[in-house]
Amino acid sequence: MKKKIVFITGAGMSAESGISTFRDSDGMWENYNVSDVADIEGWYRNPSLVLDFYNNMRRSLESKQPNAGHLAIAALEKDFEVQVITQNVDDLHERAGSTQVLHLHGELTKACDESKTVVESIGYADIHIGDKIGQTQARPFIVWFGEAVPEFENAVRMLSDADVVVVVGTSLQVYPAAGLLNYAPSDVPVYLIDPKPAQTVRPVRCIAKKATEGMKQLVEELKTI
Ligand code: APR
Repeated sequence: MKKKIVFITGAGMSAESGISTFRDSDGMWENYNVSDVADIEGWYRNPSLVLDFYNNMRRSLESKQPNAGHLAIAALEKDFEVQVITQNVDDLHERAGSTQVLHLHGELTKACDESKTVVESIGYADIHIGDKIGQTQARPFIVWFGEAVPEFENAVRMLSDADVVVVVGTSLQVYPAAGLLNYAPSDVPVYLIDPKPAQTVRPVRCIAKKATEGMKQLVEELKTI
């Protein structure tokens, strides 16, 4: 029976693929007002501003590549059962070959109707005012501030029988995602890979390196687990 590793990844996971994080210096929220582009109220106020923001992000994603950290996580599936819970909306874990990826905050390559019940894959295409999905204006399939996080219960279930938990590249500032560590079994090792590791509610094995370097060290340590 393969041991199960559950990863919890954030924007730092994709930083070395050239996708900026949110709260580092020169991060996304230094250049955009989060309440205009990543909040349900911002969508009601000015949908075309929100569509432009995600159209730019989606267009740019097409030319980005998974980095060695994404590839290392996917490669672990040879020897472990690996599940990835990501806060990221990019498709880099999937493109690296990970087969079990849960997106807590939605997916950039999908669009949906206003009620988020009709969901369609759109790849890296734009969404325009006037585009319809279901009976309503199409919108990005993203979880904005002020919206529910419907996949949270599935993430808790994934963690409940983990043998190892690995947190990579998240400031652990946004709930409920930041509270996921509370649901990891208390007797399993938790690794944290981040050059500027956040404070955590429980003791962790800290690898204060970037994702690509930290994953190399983790893979070596997992050989003796
Ligand atoms: N490798 C690993 N970690 C890195 C790297 C790197 N190369 N570069 C930066 N980091 C770390 C930072 O030290 C920080 O801890 O990644 C983390 C990025 O934190 P945030 O920018 O806050 O991103 P994240 O935690 O994913 O944000 C959570 O906030 O705005 C919302 O929905 C958005 O999903 C996002 C959520």
